Amino acid sequence: MLSSAIKESEIDKVGFLDMEIDPSLDIFEEISKLKKEKNAVVLAHYYQEPDIQDVADYIGDSLGLAQNAARTEADIIVFAGVHFMAETAKILNPAKKVLLPDLKAGCSLSDSCPPPLFKAFKDKYPDHLVISYINCSAGIKALSDIICTSSNAQLIVESLPKDQKIIFAPDKNLGGYINKMTGRNMLLWNGACMVHEIFSLEKITKLKSRHPEAKLIAHPECEDTILRIADFIGSTTQLLKYTEKDKSSTYIVATETGILHSMQQNAPGKTFIAAPPDNACACNDCPHMKRNTLEKLYLCMKYELPEIKMEETLRLAAKKPIDRMLELSKKLGLGG
Ligand code: 13P
Ligand code: SF4
Repeated sequence: MLSSAIKESEIDKVGFLDMEIDPSLDIFEEISKLKKEKNAVVLAHYYQEPDIQDVADYIGDSLGLAQNAARTEADIIVFAGVHFMAETAKILNPAKKVLLPDLKAGCSLSDSCPPPLFKAFKDKYPDHLVISYINCSAGIKALSDIICTSSNAQLIVESLPKDQKIIFAPDKNLGGYINKMTGRNMLLWNGACMVHEIFSLEKITKLKSRHPEAKLIAHPECEDTILRIADFIGSTTQLLKYTEKDKSSTYIVATETGILHSMQQNAPGKTFIAAPPDNACACNDCPHMKRNTLEKLYLCMKYELPEIKMEETLRLAAKKPIDRMLELSKKLGLGG
C-alpha cells in the first residue's frame, strides 16, 4: 500500500518521481514476481528504453500492441508506451486495470489535433469519411470512422472505394505518403511528430556517402524529403523485420532510437546508425516515450498506479473505429 505521505491523486499528477527505491533491490526480479502475483502483462513499444524492452512480455508496433491488448487474458495491463496507447488498451478492456508508468507520457502528434478544432474541421466536409492514425486521443477516435496504424494505413485506404472522399488525421506526413502510394487525394490534418520531422536531409546525405554500403530505412512519419531517399519505409515492426531478412550489413535508421536495441538483438552481426537530427540535441529520442523508466515501471506495478480511467460514453464511441481497424486487419491478414 502507499504510505500516507503519498496520496493516489498525487501519483496521478506528479508520478513516482520522488519515491525512493531500496538500492539493493533487483528490480528485474521484482517485476517478474509482480507479474506472476498480479497476473499482469507488460506490453512495450520499441521506443522504450532497453531495460523495459527486456522485461516486456510483448514488444511491438502500435498495431501489434492493440491486437495484443485486445486478446490478453491478464487482469492488469502495464503499458510501457505513451498515453494514447494505454488509452487504446483501456478502450478495448474496460474491465481490466490498465496502468501507465508515467501519466505525462503524451505524444506531440496526438497533441497537434485537439478534438474541438478537429470537429469544426470535420463538420465542413460532411461527405468525407474520417480515417485517423492511432496516435490520437480518445476524443479524436470518437470523431473517426476507422483507425489505422502505420502498418495497415495503406491497405485500409485501398480497401475503400476509389471515389470515397477521406479526411486523414492527424499526421500530414503519413497521410501524404499514403496519398502518394495510393494515388488518392485525402484531405490532411496539419499535424506531425516532433521526433520524425527533425531529421536532417543534409546530414543523412553526408552519412550515406561515408557509408555507401548502408541502406536508409525510415518510418512514414518522416517528412517527404527523407522518405524520397529511403531504401525502405515501414512501421517499427516492418523496419525491424526488414533488417532481419535483408542482406545488407549496415542501416541508417530514421525513426526513434529505442528500436536500435531490438534491431541489434535480432541481427547482432549488423551495424545500425541512428539518422542524425538537424541540430546537436538527441532529438530523435522521444521525450514522451522516455518518461517511462524501469523504476517507474516497477513502482507502477507494485502500487497499481497511475491507472487509465475513461468515461463510458467516450469509450464506446472511441471503440467503434478501433474495432473496425482490428476487423479489417484480420481480413487483410495483418497480424501482430
Ligand atoms: P509504429 O510503432 O506503429 O510504427 O508507430 C510509431 C510511433 O510513432 C509510435 O508513437
Ligand atoms: Fe508521438 Fe512521435 Fe513520440 Fe511516437 S515518437 S509517441 S508519434 S511524439
